[in-house]
Amino acid sequence: MILVVGAGAVGTILSTYLMSVRREPVKLYVRDKDVTTLQTVQNLRVEHAGAGHPPIVAPKPILTQSLSLDDVDFLFLCVKFRDLDTVLDALPPIPQRCAIVCTLNGVGALRRIHERLPQARVVALTVMFNGQMLEPLHARITTRPQILVDCETGRLCGAFVGSGMDVTRTTGEAAAWGKLLINLANAIGALTHTTFKDLLTQQDLRAIYTAVLDEAVGLLEHAGITYQLPSPIPYRWYRSLIAGRTRLPWWFARWRNGLRDGSYPSMVADVDAGRTTEIDQLNGEIVRLGLEHGKPTPVNAELVSLVRKLEGMTQPPYLTPAELRGRLGV
Ligand SMILES: NC(=O)c1ccc[n+]([C@@H]2O[C@H](COP(=O)([O-])OP(=O)(O)OC[C@H]3O[C@@H](n4cnc5c(N)ncnc54)[C@H](OP(=O)(O)O)[C@@H]3O)[C@@H](O)[C@H]2O)c1
Repeated sequence: MILVVGAGAVGTILSTYLMSVRREPVKLYVRDKDVTTLQTVQNLRVEHAGAGHPPIVAPKPILTQSLSLDDVDFLFLCVKFRDLDTVLDALPPIPQRCAIVCTLNGVGALRRIHERLPQARVVALTVMFNGQMLEPLHARITTRPQILVDCETGRLCGAFVGSGMDVTRTTGEAAAWGKLLINLANAIGALTHTTFKDLLTQQDLRAIYTAVLDEAVGLLEHAGITYQLPSPIPYRWYRSLIAGRTRLPWWFARWRNGLRDGSYPSMVADVDAGRTTEIDQLNGEIVRLGLEHGKPTPVNAELVSLVRKLEGMTQPPYLTPAELRGRLGV
């Protein structure tokens, strides 16, 4: 049995793929405030951005208002970091058979779960796709559907077989660190209100992203942290693509990840809606590591500070790419 907590973009997309093949029974945890809305929704639905893909429509999982884990083998945590402690506080003792599957971006969530539940078995599920919520239990996926699972048994990966979700097995935290490096760009999008295409085609944004990555990769290497970039190429090649002037990075992202013209990081939507972001778990993680190792991280620190200032604003004053580049001095 899989219990999914968090019926947002990631929770809806993962539930839809799982329910489309029903290799494992799935339950979706619902809070009181959402029960009436979710009871009226007929199916799970995932749209694909771009032409030619029909939506995936799957039966709605069992809705439950209980966090009992008695019959649960995999507890999927699909909430934002700001809500993680609330969920962990509400959990009963974790039975031995139950693994906690962490889908949250960054490595801070894994650390927090290990701290709070030291005895629990934790599986890192790195979400490689980009998802957006359209309406309750109805989401859109704007990239290729892919997840990386750090998993000692094949059962969890097997739950997705035949669903169209590409599942790659990994070991350790290298993939999570590699994904974190890519997610460092989310702050650039959030501050300039731009898309992934802008990031990979506009020179000012590319120069900023290169500086952010150089700082972070230098630090990881200094700290002896292994990272595995989502693209199977060494960092120096990836860097030279981003820092160059051709449109190759965008073509590569389209071809490899299925990125679409209008795709944007969810931090863009969070800032737009005046919500708190996961900046502390992304660029903030690099700043924290820099402090630990006595290495300054001025570029990532300034991004953290700028994003924090925008959080909660009704009309955030976005910067142009050139203005942001000037502010960062890169
Ligand atoms: N979206 C993406 O493309 C993407 C890609 C990679 C990784 N991720 C990561 O995946 C995680 C989830 O992201 P998301 O985009 O799915 O966020 P999201 O759309 O905001 O979904 C989170 C859901 O959790 C619900 N929730 C909050 N507290 C809860 C609680 N105590 N019990 C049950 N449900 C609760 C929220 O409901 P309310 O809003 O009503 O509180 C919301 O529906 C984040 O860490 C994100 O960084 C996302």
